[in-house]
Amino acid sequence: MSQLELRPGLADVPVAESAVSFIDGKRARLEYRGVAVETLARESCYEETAWLLLKGELPTQRQLADFEDQLRHRRRLKYKLKDLIKCLPEYGHPMDALQATVAALGMFYPARNVADEQVRWDSCVRLIAKMPTVVAAFHRLRYGDEAIDPRDDLDHAQNFYYMLFEKLPSPAVRKIIDACLILHAEHTMNASTFSGRVTGSTLASPYCVISAAIGTLTGPLHGGANEEALDMLEEIGTLENVRPWIEAKRTADPKFKLMGFGHRVYKVKDPRATVLQELAEHVFSETSRPPIYDMAVELERVAAGILGPKGIYPNVDFYSGIVYQSLGIPRDLFTPIFAIARVAGWLAHWLEQMQNNRIYRPEQIYVGKRDVPYVPLEKRP
Ligand code: CMC
Repeated sequence: MSQLELRPGLADVPVAESAVSFIDGKRARLEYRGVAVETLARESCYEETAWLLLKGELPTQRQLADFEDQLRHRRRLKYKLKDLIKCLPEYGHPMDALQATVAALGMFYPARNVADEQVRWDSCVRLIAKMPTVVAAFHRLRYGDEAIDPRDDLDHAQNFYYMLFEKLPSPAVRKIIDACLILHAEHTMNASTFSGRVTGSTLASPYCVISAAIGTLTGPLHGGANEEALDMLEEIGTLENVRPWIEAKRTADPKFKLMGFGHRVYKVKDPRATVLQELAEHVFSETSRPPIYDMAVELERVAAGILGPKGIYPNVDFYSGIVYQSLGIPRDLFTPIFAIARVAGWLAHWLEQMQNNRIYRPEQIYVGKRDVPYVPLEKRP
């Protein structure tokens, strides 16, 4: 009998000491390097938040200006990378395109010497700067449009919107995109961050680290839930159908999961969902209030009565899709936007892992056969 205790999903098992972010799941509190995420979403910008995550402190005015400058000058893609993106199937998912292109970036910018501080920093800047360009380029090219070159007179959020739509966002839309990037930038030891740390622990290059994390983020239990939450609301169809729909689903399958609900750590409403909901209200003062938003609010209300006692409330993915959809962003770009934001958190964890690295090599509890005799092929049926 093994003395080891299995903890499925590594629930409550610490896998690192980390100073990057903090969650109090009972008090709906999320802090990046000690600063409340709501404050950052309101007061900061993505570039400053990324610096905070990577460096551990808010930047000085000079540091922020330099960092913004470095990012602006590293947004462009080499023409061979654009050719590579052009060759990807246009019906493929943009997350797969992003993962493949990030892996390829590592061939253009070798960074195997991860002990070199300059190599580490250059890789961080390059990945944060180029991922939005990759996502926008794939989106344009798959519809036969030209990729739009980044503009270095625009900030991170404005430039991403510009590369997608070839027009500038209004100040309110710019603020919303920026806040969404901030809200998705980091979230303690989630699956994709852990995956990146595991890859980093082998001293693999940062491009391998980030492409591993991107792959992990694609799944519907993680970043992919934002697309599915919107699919679910569309399936519900009308405000009146919310309660009958949820009851029918739960009768058919008592374990039925509402997408965009529930979290391993939060047992109350995810603070990011609260901020996103406020942002959604803001967007609708510029656009119009879509019926799907009212359905979402009703679903949250009905679900609170059914699932609230189990601590299951909306998570970040519940309202993000509604915000993005109202900005005209296609559904399959929701998770890539999550990735272009989260890259700052993944890199902060990678830098931390590199400070005090030991390769991840956990244990297993073997439940297979032992000492099985080998029967030669000619003696087998
Ligand atoms: N709807 C209904 N019941 C749920 C839900 C849900 N969304 N989430 C959890 N439960 C129930 C689950 O059925 C189980 O019940 P019981 O104890 O009776 O067996 C209990 O709550 C614990 O669920 P779990 O799946 O064991 O919890 P977990 O911590 O392993 O999973 C989760 C967390 C986020 C994967 C899960 O809540 C889920 O699948 N949610 C839907 C997908 C989703 O919205 N994912 C986005 C997560 S937030 C952003 C991100 O990290 O990417």
